[in-house]
Amino acid sequence: MSKQQEIVLSGIRPTGDLHLGNYFGALRNFVQLQDAHTCYFFIADYHSLTTHPTPEDLYKNVRRIMALYLAAGIDPEKSTLYIQSDVPEVCELYLLLGMIAYIGELERTATFKDKIRLQPGNVNAGLLTYPVLMASDILIHRSHKVPVGKDQEQHLELARVYARRFNSVYRCEVFPEPEAFAFGDHLVKVPGLNGTGGKMGKSEGNGIYLTDTAEDIRKKVMKAVTDAGPVEPGQTPSEPIQNLFTIMELVSPPDTLSFFRKQYAECTIRYGDLKKQLAEDINLYIAPIRERFGEIIRDSALLSKVAATGREKARASASATLKEVRKVIGFEN
Ligand code: ADP
Ligand code: TRP
Repeated sequence: MSKQQEIVLSGIRPTGDLHLGNYFGALRNFVQLQDAHTCYFFIADYHSLTTHPTPEDLYKNVRRIMALYLAAGIDPEKSTLYIQSDVPEVCELYLLLGMIAYIGELERTATFKDKIRLQPGNVNAGLLTYPVLMASDILIHRSHKVPVGKDQEQHLELARVYARRFNSVYRCEVFPEPEAFAFGDHLVKVPGLNGTGGKMGKSEGNGIYLTDTAEDIRKKVMKAVTDAGPVEPGQTPSEPIQNLFTIMELVSPPDTLSFFRKQYAECTIRYGDLKKQLAEDINLYIAPIRERFGEIIRDSALLSKVAATGREKARASASATLKEVRKVIGFEN
């Protein structure tokens, strides 16, 4: 299959501005993929309802994510850029896939177990069936590649299970098996700055955002957790320091990283210098996106036009899939 025939799809929830984790785990790959593949990128607003946003916040956040997609380089002429709730076909497929999704496998999903722990007062059915809705997003366009960060691996595995199971129950080949995708040989996990093994995340409250000013970035990086310093030449960096190196590897030139790694290995490193350099390099990376975002977010007409065009293209593809699905199930002849 040629790359142009390969369908790429991914989505991001409108739960706050995007951070470095979203950028390196997802958005940067979207931009690279759009030249050679048929791409669908969307804003997963249904998925964000599990935490009950106010209407004002939801509306505002959807527009901000749309502007961030554009600011980061998604070209609506090359990719289909749309809002999930503009494509009702997704909901019909969600209902149909719900019939072949087993409660046991949904209850065993790590993200569901995390949510039970984090929000015990709001364990709604939408949380349990979150992977079914995500599989519908993916399968509605019969996607092959899904660029996501490491944390979405298990959800992707379920989408593959549902594609296989649907094809087998209805003795058809409607759905290809979608694969999680990253450039390089592994899915990315950008760490937070709080010195733990956790990821940088919107809900984790440890994000460096694509909309942060140079000053915001500097403050956040200078506050990053470190350790008391290396004591032996050549020792392996502790987790908080490794996290800083991991981010540096993404945003800084390779010789900057090797400079500080060498200083660490020789026990001459000063964390203040490392952080200053890191903050500067993050800012250099983010500044052009932040500036474009500032212009685009004020252009309401552009945002509405992009959403309307995307909606039309996404619905055309979605309804073609649904037509086949309805046929193999037996609704139509
Ligand atoms: P968040 O997890 O910050 O709430 P989303 O759930 O909307 O954001 O994630 C959108 C995309 O960004 C997904 O593909 C997800 O895998 C990716 N992503 C989120 N956080 C990270 C991270 N720290 N490292 C790598 N990828 C990430
Ligand atoms: N679940 C994803 C996240 O939390 C967002 C998402 C929803 C998604 N539907 C998708 C990602 C389909 C890829 C494909 O990050």
